Amino acid sequence: MAEKSYKYVIVGGGVAAGYAAREFVKQGLKAGELAIFSAEKVAPYERPALSKGYLAPEGAARLPGFHVCVGSGGDKQPPEWYAEKGIDLHLNTQVSMVDVQQKSLTSLAGVSYRFSILILATGSTFTKLSESGVPGADARGIYYLRVIDEADALVAAMKAKKDGAAVVVGGGYIGMELAACLCLNGLKVTMVYPKPFCMPRLFTADLASFYEGYYEGKGITILKGPKTTGFEIDATGHVKAVKLDDGSVVPADIVVVGVGAKPLVGLLHGQVVEDKGGFKVDGFFRTSAPHVYVVGDLAAFPLKMFCDIRRVEHVDHARKSGIHAVQAIKAAEEGKTIPEYDYLPYFYSRAFELSWQFYGDNVGEGITWGREGACAAKSKFGTYWVKDGKIMGAFLEGGTPEENKMMANVAKAQPCVGSNDELCAAGLSFAAKF
Ligand code: FDA
Ligand code: NAD
Repeated sequence: MAEKSYKYVIVGGGVAAGYAAREFVKQGLKAGELAIFSAEKVAPYERPALSKGYLAPEGAARLPGFHVCVGSGGDKQPPEWYAEKGIDLHLNTQVSMVDVQQKSLTSLAGVSYRFSILILATGSTFTKLSESGVPGADARGIYYLRVIDEADALVAAMKAKKDGAAVVVGGGYIGMELAACLCLNGLKVTMVYPKPFCMPRLFTADLASFYEGYYEGKGITILKGPKTTGFEIDATGHVKAVKLDDGSVVPADIVVVGVGAKPLVGLLHGQVVEDKGGFKVDGFFRTSAPHVYVVGDLAAFPLKMFCDIRRVEHVDHARKSGIHAVQAIKAAEEGKTIPEYDYLPYFYSRAFELSWQFYGDNVGEGITWGREGACAAKSKFGTYWVKDGKIMGAFLEGGTPEENKMMANVAKAQPCVGSNDELCAAGLSFAAKF
C-alpha cells in the first residue's frame, strides 16, 4: 500500500502543536493537508494545568475543559475540532524515525508517512534521578510529571496515601507547584533541594526567602543543601524513605521528583543543526533544512531584544512559536514574508494563593521592592533586574492584570534607571511610566 502523504505534518501533540493547528486553520487549510502525530492519548491541552488545577483536591480541572487554546483566552479544541477541520490527529502514535532528506516519518508501530513540510514540536521530558545512578530511583511511589497519564497516577497516589508523607525532590517549577498541590491534598510535605534557595534559575535569594517562608507557614518542611543519594524501599518494591547525603533519612509514602527538563531531540539529531540543547532555528523557526521547522521547548531561536540565541521552556513561547512558524510557512507559499519573531520572554507560576509573573531577562542585579511589607495575607512585591544602568527584567507577585502589563511594558522598554535606591523606593510606580 502506498504511504499516506501530507502537505504539513506536526510531530508532537502538545501546546505548540495545538496553537500551530489553530493558525493553519485561520490561514486557510484544506481537508487532508495537515496531520498531527502525538504520543499522548488526548488532543493537545494546556500543559500548565497538570501541576495546578488538575491536582486540586476539589473542583479539579479535567478534559475537555483545558484543551488548547483556552489558556490564552481562545476556544477549546477537543478531538472533534480536528475532525471538523479535516486534520488527521493520530493519537497514541509515537514517531520513532524522521528522515529529513526523504521527507518521511515512521511510527513506532512501523507505519510510514510522507510530508512536504515538517514542524517538530516534541517538547521536553523530565530528567530521571536513575540517569545519574541514584539507587532505588525507579521504585514504585516515585513520580515525575510531564503528561496527563502521569498526572492521573499522581491523583490516584494522593488519594491512596491521604494524610501520608510526601517528599518533593527539587526546588524548581515542578518542586514549588507540586509541593503546594500535595499540601493542599492533605499530605505532610518535605521539600529537599541541593541549592541554597528555591527557583535558582530565576529567583534572587531575597525573592526565594519570601516563597520559602510562605511554604513553611503552610506546614511544609524545607531542607536546603543536601543531595538525594538514594531511596529506602519496602518488601513490595514501594518507596518508604529518601536518603540524603547529610546522613538523614526522610520517610515518604510518595516522592515527586522535579530536577529539570530534557529536550526531546532524538528525531532530528544529526539531521539538522543543533544548539543550546535543542535545534537552531531562524526568526521564522526554520531549521538548517528549509522544509523542517522546530517550535516550543526545542527551538533555539534568535532572541532579538537580547541579541542572543535562546531556548525557552515555557508555555507562552510554545504558543507564540507555533503560531509564528505557521504564519511564516503560509507567507512563504505566497512569496511573502513576515517580521522575524521578536519575543519578550514571559513566565508565570501559581501555587496556593500566590501568583507571579516575570518578563525579560534575570541578568544583572536584582532590586527587590515591597518585600518588607509582604506577608501571607498581603503579598504584592517585585524585583527589577538592572544591568549597565538599564532594566532587563521585571517580576511581580500578586499583580492585577493591569500591573502585570506594566511589568511587560517596562521589561520591553528597558529604560535607564537612576539609583537603585530610587528604583526600590518607586517600586510599582516606576513601571507605571511605560
Ligand atoms: P509539550 O511538552 O507541550 O508537547 C510535546 C508533545 O509531543 C507531547 O504531547 C509529547 O507526548 C509529544 N511527543 C514527544 N515525543 C514524541 C514522539 N516521538 N512522537 C509523537 N509525539 C511525541 N510554563 C509556563 O510558562 N507556565 C506554567 O505554569 C507551566 N506549567 C507547567 C506544568 C507542567 C507539569 C509542565 C510539564 C510544564 C509546564 N510549563 C509551564 C512549561 C510548558 O508547559 C512547556 O514549555 C510547553 O508545554 C512546551 O510546549 P511544546 O509544545 O514544546 O511541548
Ligand atoms: P527546573 O530546572 O525548574 O528545576 C530543577 C530543580 O531541581 C532546581 O531547583 C535544581 O536545583 C534541582 N535539582 C537539580 N538536580 C537535582 C538533584 N539531583 N537532586 C535534587 N534537586 C536537584 O526543572 P523542573 O522544575 O523539573 O521543571 C521541568 C520543566 O517544566 C522545565 O522546563 C520547566 O520550565 C517546566 N515547568 C514550568 C513551569 C512554569 O513555568 N510555571 C511549571 C512546571 C514546569
